[in-house]
Amino acid sequence: MSNAASVKSARADEREYVLGTHAEESVRLGLQHRLWSASAHQLWERAVVAPGQTVLDVGCGPGHASMDLAQIVGAGGRVLCVDESASYLHQVSDQAKAKRLDNVDRILGDVQELDTLLVDWSGRVDVAYARWVLCFLRQPERVIEGLARVVKPGGRVAIQDYFNYETMTLAPKRDEFSRVIRAVGRSFRDHGGNPDIMGVVPEMLARNGFKVTHLSLNQRVARPQDQIWHWPDSFWKVYVPRLVAGGFINQHEADEFMTVWHEASASRDAFMFLPPVVDLIAVRT
Ligand SMILES: C[S@@+](CC[C@H](N)C(=O)[O-])C[C@H]1O[C@@H](n2cnc3c(N)ncnc32)[C@H](O)[C@@H]1O
Repeated sequence: MSNAASVKSARADEREYVLGTHAEESVRLGLQHRLWSASAHQLWERAVVAPGQTVLDVGCGPGHASMDLAQIVGAGGRVLCVDESASYLHQVSDQAKAKRLDNVDRILGDVQELDTLLVDWSGRVDVAYARWVLCFLRQPERVIEGLARVVKPGGRVAIQDYFNYETMTLAPKRDEFSRVIRAVGRSFRDHGGNPDIMGVVPEMLARNGFKVTHLSLNQRVARPQDQIWHWPDSFWKVYVPRLVAGGFINQHEADEFMTVWHEASASRDAFMFLPPVVDLIAVRT
């Protein structure tokens, strides 16, 4: 495969997004992809991802979605994987090797600089996919501007990201839980992100020559016995200690939160509203 050749070293140092790029987060992203892959595939079908195409995975992480996309576009197509984490891009390479996929290119760099990172791909991308990336960025519109350069006329962008993040609720309601959810939102904003990013994405797309053709809500409810319960469960393990380390909550609040969570997990009757994810497709006019 052309991986080694196609990694462009945009910067020597490894930058970390707010959730980190350590091994535990990488494992969490794998589980997360599994639990959300049905809705990703549904969106890709709607965006008409097909064999032979060039697909861009914006902020690809360890490449779980990228591998599925590479299988879909097949040997005649390509998947361009962009991420600022060198260690995640190594994992993309390992996964591609294990799956014998030689249609995967890795590009190291900031997705807010897509036009310079993908200068050879101007106007050549059929579909760009961005899941849970825009919410972490200081300048998300820079991504949309870059997409306007690389996506061909008639090409599509497919985005899955958050809106109304802090409406995530445990039932029965518990203050100890809601306090930590608000702290998660604060921590995203403190790092320059926006947990309600999908509220402003349609207008950014319109300003940059895209027409939104599909917008729907992915609001999931989880019960402790459901597979999807693992999603918040794995997130707390990674992120609650980071909230304490960052001063967004204290250790006592973290302990109270985990007690409430363990009680809910052991209950037959608890449930929770997961953070709303908005699915969007826009066409480059
Ligand atoms: C929550 S993960 C999502 C990964 C992947 N899109 C998925 O759905 O599995 C966010 C990813 O965005 C990447 N990221 C965050 N900010 C970035 C930036 N400015 N440029 C490039 N990648 C970035 C992180 O390194 C991480 O891999």
